[in-house]
Amino acid sequence: MIYRKNKLTIDHLDISKIARKYKTPVYCYSLRKIKENIQNIKTHFKNINPLICYAVKANPNLGILREIKKNNLGADVVSVGELMKALKAGISPKKIVFSGVGKTFEEIEYAINKNILLINAESKSEILQIEKIAKKKKKIVDVGIRLNPNTDAKTLSQISTGKKENKFGVNQKIFLQLVNIVKKSQSLNLKCLSVHIGSQILSYKPYQKMLNVVNKIIKLSNYNFEYIDLGGGMGIDYNHDQSKLDFYKYSKEIKKFLKNNHCKIIFEPGRSIVGNSAILITKVIYIKEGFKKDFVILDAAMNDLMRPALYGAKHMIIPLSKINRKSKKSYEFVGPICESTDTFSIVKNYQKLNEKDFLAICDVGAYGVSLASNYNIRPKPPEILIKNSKIQVLNKRQKISDLI
Ligand code: LLP
Repeated sequence: MIYRKNKLTIDHLDISKIARKYKTPVYCYSLRKIKENIQNIKTHFKNINPLICYAVKANPNLGILREIKKNNLGADVVSVGELMKALKAGISPKKIVFSGVGKTFEEIEYAINKNILLINAESKSEILQIEKIAKKKKKIVDVGIRLNPNTDAKTLSQISTGKKENKFGVNQKIFLQLVNIVKKSQSLNLKCLSVHIGSQILSYKPYQKMLNVVNKIIKLSNYNFEYIDLGGGMGIDYNHDQSKLDFYKYSKEIKKFLKNNHCKIIFEPGRSIVGNSAILITKVIYIKEGFKKDFVILDAAMNDLMRPALYGAKHMIIPLSKINRKSKKSYEFVGPICESTDTFSIVKNYQKLNEKDFLAICDVGAYGVSLASNYNIRPKPPEILIKNSKIQVLNKRQKISDLI
């Protein structure tokens, strides 16, 4: 995404033309960026040779999943719907792991029927449930156990998952009990230890701590795990100031860990694959004067992009046409929804905007559309993919008539 002659472009395509043709708000993805991100992970972790299972929850668009499959990635799913979509995209079941604290009987049964690589269990009750279904089906099911390493990921509290007060995984004592239960089971095959401490992690240090805890518990359990699933969480540069996770440092920590442990590493990245691949194009409906700043009322809202309202997350907002006017303004960018949290950001010294101007909300490829809703009976926006400078419509705009 770069400005050419002050017009924002992706792969040489003028984004404002897309905005006019498909109307706003519209999600616009760059396939080149997705491929670049995948390649970046593959290159940095080459010596580790992980199985990369894309976290479908970040963006479950079928067109995107198909592209991810073409790049030989597997999938991390958390519901039967995600599992069905991953399979529909052609991802091999032998590259699919199933995470989540509340897998239902039906979901486990479906996953077992499809012979997926691993069901990563998160409680004793779940292990017993999987065993019961496996027994009924006269199958031996490969499972993992998710450890709660009680490690602070130093990220937003709402997206932190690896501390003891979080609902995810089991503590060390229960982990060891579960290892013994699975070892004795005739219907379960213990293959994996899994962890995931949170999302948008910007420093390698929480991962380093997590690996130390994992190392310790492996010794205590005296068991050879074929897989260690380290989850996802690799943070991206939302501020555009190079504040993203250093893959090199993280890979060094994993290499150290692998010296003591001979196992295959699994990654479950979501955001780091699709996060920076998309913009949400929006139009200024009105500008109204406020106290010390003006409100720029956009046609995109919290139902289209929940992250700012839900987590106070910041996404850069940039104009599709850059104008080097001297006069600068202070703006609060808001959506039209009747909630005070329907606000994206407050920016000082922004170029002076006019009603009907187009803007791009950046880095919305992960947890953008996947968290979108129909709140206020607003149809979900279309999703388009820019692929070799051509446009592919992945999803049309929902019709209002379908919502009524
Ligand atoms: N594996 C597991 C078990 C997870 O729970 C998650 C994310 C991932 C992998 C992928 O994490 P990633 O690489 O994308 O950080 N809606 C929030 C993020 C929630 C993440 C939930 N779990 C947001 O918009 O920031």
